[in-house]
Amino acid sequence: MSSVLGISVNCLFVGAGAIAEEYASGLASSPLSLAGACDLEAARADALAAEHDCRSFTDLETALAAVDAPIVVNLTSHAAHATVTRTALDANRHVYSQKPLALDAETAADLLATARRKGLALGCAPETPQAPLQRRASRLLADGRLGPTRLGYAYAHVGRVTDWHDRPDSFLEIGPLYDGAVYPLTLLVSWFGPVEEIRVADSLDIWPDRAERSPSAPSHVEATLSFAGGPVVRLTASFYAPHRSREFYGLELHGDDGSLSLQNVGAMDDVAGSLQFGGVGRSYTTVPPQSPTTDTQYLDAVERLAASVNAGKPSRASGRRGVHVVEICNAIERAATDGSPANVADHGVTRDQSVPPVVTPPDRSTARQSPRLPPVGFGCSRYRGGEYVDRLKSIATALDAGYRFLDSAELYGNEHRIGELLAAPGTPNRDQLFVLGKVWRTNHRQEHLLQACAGSLDELGIDAFDCYTLHWPEAWVHQGELSRLAEQPVEQQEALTFPETDDGDIATADLSLEQAWENLEVVADRGWARSLGICNVSRSQLETILDTGGIDPALVQIERHPYEPQTDLVEFCHERGIRVVAHSPLSAPGLLSEPVLGEIGDAYDLSAAGVVVAWNVSQGVVPIPSSTMPAHIVENLRAASVRLTAEDCDRIATLEDPDFER
Ligand SMILES: NC(=O)c1ccc[n+]([C@@H]2O[C@H](COP(=O)([O-])OP(=O)(O)OC[C@H]3O[C@@H](n4cnc5c(N)ncnc54)[C@H](OP(=O)(O)O)[C@@H]3O)[C@@H](O)[C@H]2O)c1
Repeated sequence: MSSVLGISVNCLFVGAGAIAEEYASGLASSPLSLAGACDLEAARADALAAEHDCRSFTDLETALAAVDAPIVVNLTSHAAHATVTRTALDANRHVYSQKPLALDAETAADLLATARRKGLALGCAPETPQAPLQRRASRLLADGRLGPTRLGYAYAHVGRVTDWHDRPDSFLEIGPLYDGAVYPLTLLVSWFGPVEEIRVADSLDIWPDRAERSPSAPSHVEATLSFAGGPVVRLTASFYAPHRSREFYGLELHGDDGSLSLQNVGAMDDVAGSLQFGGVGRSYTTVPPQSPTTDTQYLDAVERLAASVNAGKPSRASGRRGVHVVEICNAIERAATDGSPANVADHGVTRDQSVPPVVTPPDRSTARQSPRLPPVGFGCSRYRGGEYVDRLKSIATALDAGYRFLDSAELYGNEHRIGELLAAPGTPNRDQLFVLGKVWRTNHRQEHLLQACAGSLDELGIDAFDCYTLHWPEAWVHQGELSRLAEQPVEQQEALTFPETDDGDIATADLSLEQAWENLEVVADRGWARSLGICNVSRSQLETILDTGGIDPALVQIERHPYEPQTDLVEFCHERGIRVVAHSPLSAPGLLSEPVLGEIGDAYDLSAAGVVVAWNVSQGVVPIPSSTMPAHIVENLRAASVRLTAEDCDRIATLEDPDFER
């Protein structure tokens, strides 16, 4: 994480075991410094202290008196957390604690009250709601993709700690709720606010007979929880279900309009394929990142806590959430013992303000706000090397994967099918999409252009395009309306769109580019497009529009790939704030077999196609690849999160072919 501190802040680590090493691994690149390490085992404290050139202690009181560290990081065993935090708060230290904050809600609430009274910060792990995967999942919820979310399944299969942990005693003492269940609970509380009630709970003392050591608390717990702001979630936390169980730390949420699946609620890194979304009636599609992500480090949360202290606003938000999570675990135990529902006190916890809010979708028909241009778009053309293909399924998959920019055109003849998708449950709201439209070159006269635009809007079921463009600068003779081209016989489609003279030449129309652009401007004047653009334009044609038009183009769409990078035009546009969209980025014959693309791809775990997408994005150009294969659709989107180096781009520049022609 980039530093939020600016100045160095001393910390005292209490507990010098395996988790302390994880926290300490971030120190080298952090403004936090370790002023002391304290552990009941002198050897562990000494080892950590030696590595970080600080003092070593076996007694907390002595350490607090000796070390000038405003922040105590509590990394002791589970059952010791509350006592250590209490001692540190009493010594006027800000505290960041590993989870759980305490083993009973009363103690946890008392720690929070002490911190509040003394004006001290109190933070509690896990901070995984801030990790990239979980933030992307919360964005799906905030975007209203699931619709009202009514049901969830959450797992915390900690596994047989005696098999995989070299010091399992601390785990065996507390059971799977306080170590495992805290992960899904923390995430769900961040998203939906407090749990109101444990509807039903059960716990089992199952454990292998042959095992030498067994948990003191029930080794397997199941509970059904009602969240204040949303779903009923069935939670399973287990030491018996092994670590390898398919459910592991998985979470599935089901809403009226779609489902979300997160493979590991506790993940700190952005593992490929871990987040999936499925619109209603469709199978799951991976939702990859679309911009570079940074893995979360344990120390990030301590840095944020230190930043809040430096800013004079000591944060207790994650501490408050930690109290509520302990309260939930306590209530699950009560409900399991009593065999009846248990109420859960909220301890002032609210939904996490730092993750996007879960909002009620605005009315699709009245949404007017224009989004920023996403890093990559999805091409909706039916045309495939001489053939027409149906695109409905692949466009639906693209929307599920997270594409937010659809490149459409009246020529593609499938606007009404896209319109059906836009109106379907589970599709992003209109204000979260960038829809680009194009008027075909036989419709450049004003009455035809306006008729074409109105028809396209009608077919798509939207009020306005985010950008409406001339498909080509040159006009051809009008042949009639192009509505629902895809439903016409191919010969008819071609006759309507490629008018010919008696000699078999293309029938061009006597209508200048200046006039066509002026006609296009009427579309913007009428509010039918938020911005205007032009495709397949040369630099001199663009200069003509800039010189003579009343509205400057916001966007230029050109064929662009490594054979034809169009560098001059791209630079010309960028200097003027005109966004460049690269059409046909992948389909140049032979391109995807270029060895240099494969070699560069190996370094980023990308295919040649992914490298071409990343190359465009790295140069500030928005590619609009098209695909009918779900794996390609996801890969092309993920590639947008990769930035190539200048050296990679130099190597790709060697592919430029001034004579390139299709
Ligand atoms: N403004 C204009 O005049 C204009 C002109 C042409 C195109 N466009 C726009 O640009 C969009 C894209 O252009 P295009 O249709 O020529 O397609 P393209 O995106 O350049 O290439 C599509 C081809 O690449 C393959 N492909 C896609 N992803 C791949 C991957 N990750 N690995 C390997 N192969 C992959 C596809 O096969 P699979 O289906 O098997 O993945 C398909 O054969 C169009 O849909 C349209 O929206 C605009």
